[in-house]
Amino acid sequence: MTFYDEVGGYETFEKIVNVFYREVAIDPVLKPMYPEEDLRPAAERLTLFLVQYWGGPGTYSERRGHPRLRMRHVPFHVNPDARDRWLRCMRTALDEVALSPMHEATLWDYLERAAYAMVNTMEPSGIGPAPAGRALMEARSRSEDSTESS
Ligand code: HEM
Repeated sequence: MTFYDEVGGYETFEKIVNVFYREVAIDPVLKPMYPEEDLRPAAERLTLFLVQYWGGPGTYSERRGHPRLRMRHVPFHVNPDARDRWLRCMRTALDEVALSPMHEATLWDYLERAAYAMVNTMEPSGIGPAPAGRALMEARSRSEDSTESS
């Protein structure tokens, strides 16, 4: 039995991520970092990633390829403040789902380490992605547009 099964499968991760994004939506630093106004697609990506990481179906990689999470976060201004806010949203989510103490400790330990590893700048944040991140995302969306029209 995997950790994924032990905590209750897909539904449990979906619940955690839904609470997490409810909190992100009201965070003045985190919310503007998200490229899409609608947080549901981002919530689905995070759910599928966590599901796969903890032993559930590999849908995340079928859709998104190798996670390469640090690389995927390069466009975003992840400084210690953003990390702590991200973790605070996760803390609220884990408190609401109330896993067993063992599962809770295991999951929290992972999330904390992962969040520390995602920090990619020590610069204080302005509002929105760092200028380099914005340029990168705009270039990416331009190349997606041109692929679609050709
Ligand atoms: C430390 C603070 C963090 C911040 C501020 C942050 C912010 C973001 C942002 C703005 C996105 C883009 C939203 C989207 O379109 O999907 C994103 C994507 C994502 N993040 Fe984070 N993140 C953080 C940490 C983490 C951690 C610790 C994990 C994993 C445990 C994680 C997993 C993901 C995943 C799976 C995606 C979607 C990747 C994809 O398939 O494109 N993030 N994050």
